[in-house]
This record gives sequence, C-alpha cells and structure tokens, in this order.
Amino acid sequence: MRINEHPDREALTLAVAHDIVTSLGMVLRAQDRATLSLPGGSTPVPVFKALSAAPLDWDRVTIIPGDERWVPSDHARSNARLIRRHLLEEGVAADLIDLYDPALDPDAGAAAASARVAGFLPLSVLLLGMGEDMHTASLFPGAQGLAAALAADAAPVLPIRSDTAEEPRVTLTLPVLKGATEAFLMITGPEKRAALERAAGLSPEQAPIAGLLRDLTVHYAD
Ligand code: 6PG
Repeated sequence: MRINEHPDREALTLAVAHDIVTSLGMVLRAQDRATLSLPGGSTPVPVFKALSAAPLDWDRVTIIPGDERWVPSDHARSNARLIRRHLLEEGVAADLIDLYDPALDPDAGAAAASARVAGFLPLSVLLLGMGEDMHTASLFPGAQGLAAALAADAAPVLPIRSDTAEEPRVTLTLPVLKGATEAFLMITGPEKRAALERAAGLSPEQAPIAGLLRDLTVHYAD
C-alpha cells in the first residue's frame, strides 16, 4: 500500500484525477477499451468534475459503479445517477453499466448485473472510497452477504444488506475489486486515516478494505 498525503483537498482531487486519466490512457494505448469503476458517496464528486474536463477517448471507456443502492436510477441516492450527473451529462461519452434493475429485487438484480459486467472484467482502473467503519464499495462489516462477497469464487455482483446502510445494496465483490489492474483509494479526514491504519491489522471480515490494501494506492488529505 502506498499512501500519498496531499496538503489540501484540491491537490488531492487533482492527483486522483491525474492517476485515473494516466492509467486509463495507458490501457487505451494497449487495447481497444478500458473499464473504470467509480464509488458513490460525497468524496469523489470533485474528482468526477475534474475527469469531465480530461482529454481522453471516453467513448472507449465503460464505467461500472463499485456498488449501488437499490433505489431507482433517478433517486438522489443512486450511484449511477451521481455518475450520470457529474460525468455523462458533462459530456463524458463513456458507457455506463447500471447495476440497478427496477424489475428485479436485489438478489435477482445482482445476478443480472453479474451477467452485464462479466464481459467488462477485469477492471482496468478502480477508484474506491471508504467509511470510518472500514467498509468499501458496499462491503460492510457484519453485513448479510459479506462472507459470500469476500469469497474467492464470488460472482461479480452480489446483494448486501447492512443495518448501517439505508437501503439494500448490490456490490462488486472482493475478487473483482482485487482483480483491477490499478486500484486507488481516496479518503479525507483524520478519522478515515486512523481507520485505514486500524484496517492493516484486521481481517477483511472485520475490515473489508483490508482485503485490498496490498495493491492500493491511497490518496489522502485532511
Ligand atoms: C457508496 C460508496 C461507499 C463510499 C463510502 C465513503 O455507495 O456510498 O460506494 O463505499 O465510498 O461510504 O463515502 P463518502 O465519500 O461519502 O464518505
């Protein structure tokens, strides 16, 4: 794990956007398409805005949310909506694979989403966020479905139900996240920095981010 500490959140945003664009550019010089996974939450929004201004062959990029809240795609808490609003509607011509399906429940929806994403794996570039409880994507400690989502033979997308999440979730599973060619974690604030240090001594069951630390490039600012 490499930790880059930045003097402020503007420097953090620029560094994360730079790493993502550089990594995608390298992939696109070697192959026809690239797959980018982006997190939900509030932290990454400035990065999405920076990416929307980046000169890249976005029409050769497929974006997959790292996880999804099981809400309609126009709901304020939808991660797909966040990506559409701050990237696609800003002119980024990437394809977006929506993990949500209004016709299905989270269990069937996760199976259908697994089939949709399978052809776009492994991820070329992965950006993750993290909670103070050391969850990442929707891999929440103590969640129903966590053990299955951490398993080496897990399907690409599985359902997660957690008392700490406002709604049922579906998430990219640990083997998919670990399989990313380049994986970045973006965190802010001393509480998350301390949580990341704690995770280094814990199991993925206790601290799901721990399952990814070895190959992560972390970008941090207070
Ligand atoms: C989500 C994210 C989740 C997020 C963390 C951090 O759907 O909420 O995928 O894993 O990255 O909860 O969220 P903040 O950046 O808002 O603190």
